[in-house]
Amino acid sequence: MLKIFRSGVVRRSVRVEAFSECTAKLQLEMNDKLEKVDFSALWLRFNCHCPECRQQGSGQKTLSPLVWPEDIKLQEAFFENDELKFSIKGEDHEGVIPGQVLRKFVSDERARRSAAAKMCYLRKPKQGWGSEIDFSQTNNQKGQYDMTQKIAKNGFCVAKNCPTKKNGVLDVCHKISEPIPFLYGLVQNIVNEPNPTNIAFSDAFLAPHMDMVYMESPPGLQYLLCRRNDDCVEGGESILIDAFEVAEHLRANHPRDFETLCSVPVRFQKIHWERENPVYFEWEQPHIVLDNKGQISRVNWAPAFEGKSRRSSMTNEYIQAYRRFMKQVDESDTKIVKRLNEGECIVFNNRRMLHGRTGFKLNGGVRFMEVAYTNICEFRSKAQVLEFTHGQGEIVTRVGNSNLI
Ligand SMILES: [Fe+2]
Ligand SMILES: [Zn+2]
Repeated sequence: MLKIFRSGVVRRSVRVEAFSECTAKLQLEMNDKLEKVDFSALWLRFNCHCPECRQQGSGQKTLSPLVWPEDIKLQEAFFENDELKFSIKGEDHEGVIPGQVLRKFVSDERARRSAAAKMCYLRKPKQGWGSEIDFSQTNNQKGQYDMTQKIAKNGFCVAKNCPTKKNGVLDVCHKISEPIPFLYGLVQNIVNEPNPTNIAFSDAFLAPHMDMVYMESPPGLQYLLCRRNDDCVEGGESILIDAFEVAEHLRANHPRDFETLCSVPVRFQKIHWERENPVYFEWEQPHIVLDNKGQISRVNWAPAFEGKSRRSSMTNEYIQAYRRFMKQVDESDTKIVKRLNEGECIVFNNRRMLHGRTGFKLNGGVRFMEVAYTNICEFRSKAQVLEFTHGQGEIVTRVGNSNLI
């Protein structure tokens, strides 16, 4: 039961309406409207902004819960000069949290739940790729904001008129963050090789997949730049499919299959001894991972890199669900099959979008792509900073990296 200790007075449109040992009921001015928000004593204590609890400058927490009283109970709470002041029973400490910090926290929490924070599934674009930008626009922050927003919402963006020089793909990466060398170095050249170590380096059909799902943290954004694609080259169209949309579609239409793909552990691997530094990557997780709210937080889909799963995983339910997912990948409304032309670079979220390529014939011509990657958290951070500085202050959509936010 809420025991009322004290009522506050309005100061700068905020006040402590009431508080008990456990909870402070605050009234905050949010967008010119007064709103009631509850904070627990523990939340307030953990988020104290006083110089003892948080280093000024770095803002990093320096408080130690080990020296706090056993039970965290509010002794007092009131607003003064737009700062919440509070104290905890049995502790010699004056807690402080600026009103601005509380308002920002509340508005961000709200934005996380708003419709604007939902992924947007791009179905059958009527024109071009449906999510494009000219590379020249990304020279300024406004253009970078547009690009990161498109990637965050649609899962990808095609940059046109990119530099086609050697390592030109790195120029595109640098619009977002520092490229990261994965297994194949900083830049991979996607060209035909006589004895390919990867299907990508041949002219064969490349089934839709995510890169390196055999890692705890697969590449975040992938940049696929077309340096050259001669007119005489037949086929070799790029394929993009939104795996999150496919998974949601499965959940809506075949809930038991969805459940199976959320629960059966599957092994992914990359084992390669014949290289200077042999690799032995193994990762085991269901194809679809849910967060604590039941939202999809990660998808693992790369049939060519599946290892030998535990025998108990190979059930009739599993193969039925697996086939269904595979079929829906193929039939997805979000599927785009399109030729990438010289100077075009697909920048896509590898944790969300499946990519592939149709088979091709060179006919004496050249097809030359470059691939590079940047980190998913760097992307989300960049997109969020630009959203706060150039956008509406929305919270960036889920990016598929098992983040619970
Ligand atoms: Fe790939
Ligand atoms: Zn403090």
